[in-house]
Amino acid sequence: MSLLNLWPALPLGWKTGSCVGLLAMLLSACPPAQKAQNNPNDKPLSSASPSSEFPPGSDTPLLTYGKELLLNTPKHLGPAAEKPELRLASSNLSCVSCHLNGGKSLTAMGFAGIAQRYPRYRALENRTISLSERINSCFERSLNGKTLPQRESAALTAYLIWLSDTAPQPDKRADLQEPLLPSIQLLDRAANPQTGAKLYQYHCAACHGAKGQGLYKDPQAPQLGFTFPPVAGAQSYGQGSNLNRLSIAARYIQANMPLGRPVLSAEEAFDIAAFMNSLERPLLASPEQDYPDRKQKPFDVPYPPYADAFSAEQHQLGPFKSMLPPASSPEKVRPASP
Ligand code: HEC
Ligand code: HEC
Repeated sequence: MSLLNLWPALPLGWKTGSCVGLLAMLLSACPPAQKAQNNPNDKPLSSASPSSEFPPGSDTPLLTYGKELLLNTPKHLGPAAEKPELRLASSNLSCVSCHLNGGKSLTAMGFAGIAQRYPRYRALENRTISLSERINSCFERSLNGKTLPQRESAALTAYLIWLSDTAPQPDKRADLQEPLLPSIQLLDRAANPQTGAKLYQYHCAACHGAKGQGLYKDPQAPQLGFTFPPVAGAQSYGQGSNLNRLSIAARYIQANMPLGRPVLSAEEAFDIAAFMNSLERPLLASPEQDYPDRKQKPFDVPYPPYADAFSAEQHQLGPFKSMLPPASSPEKVRPASP
């Protein structure tokens, strides 16, 4: 039995407070490989054989490598990666730490349909970008990485295009342009990080750590990545990651966390997101270079400069309804993805 199956059955007292000892105990009884959500096909590269999932005629080595990079990112691209010349990320997160279920989730930015979303205009760069550029942007901002080399970029792009058609598709998509992340009800008030801190301790800390530090599979081997990824600190997503925008983090949390039993109201999700995003994380070198056309900057990008007169705090915490561009519905928001 995995920890995640066991989780809902844990008595309340076990879920709060310091659970490090408890987790260590449970984890030693259930190796990370049995983790419910993650890496269903977590096989070493060498096991990719002609009986692979990829059809004859496709570039199987490239697709297999792309899948490996997505599932076991730090092993190949992290700060302790096998090949020193590929130690390009400073974080040991995997792509699938966020893009859950091996990139096949319908609620956590899965890659079904992605080939139809790119190339597209993106306000962050204020130009049309390709899928490869979008991948690179997530690598740089969410994993604090440097530009991907040609082969790694090609492999990830090829595998995402493969998932685009072969991953389970959403029943219906009103808007093919948007990442797969459910919308959320905006609040009438500003999000409250103090309330969020308490809710975080109750709902999240047992897995992600009281300080958001996460839990390595093996602290001696960081390239194996995390059992529970960090949400704070040097290993966490950077200031420029989309997860650092309150509405995106709240949508992600409400739809997916606590992992396996997402139960939070929009209010709780926003407050927890506000707390999470108030924690320390790697900073952008030049935040002012983002969104060169300031009028296109989404309302909840938490760092200045801004084109409007709303305070920096309101951009970070809301309330957001008065900040939305007139065209979008004030009630439910799918903020234009930058
Ligand atoms: C810390 C969390 C995190 C990690 C790690 C991460 N991403 Fe992302 N990714 C996001 C978020 C958040 C979005 C944007 C969601 C939105 O705009 O609504 C995103 C968006 C994307 C998109 C655009 C999706 C779409 O449907 O348009 C691609 C492609 C992508 N990421 C690829 C990757 C790859 C490849 C990796 C690993 C190298 C990676 N990401 C790692 C959080 C993450
Ligand atoms: C039962 C354990 C568990 C609980 C409780 C839980 N998470 Fe997670 N969370 C995970 C795991 C595991 C992943 C990574 C998924 C993977 O690797 O397959 C994750 C991923 C994430 C991510 C994206 C990766 C990162 O670290 O940035 C965020 C953000 C997140 N969780 C926030 C939360 C918040 C906020 C709560 C509380 C509302 C919460 N989680 C509760 C286990 C948990």
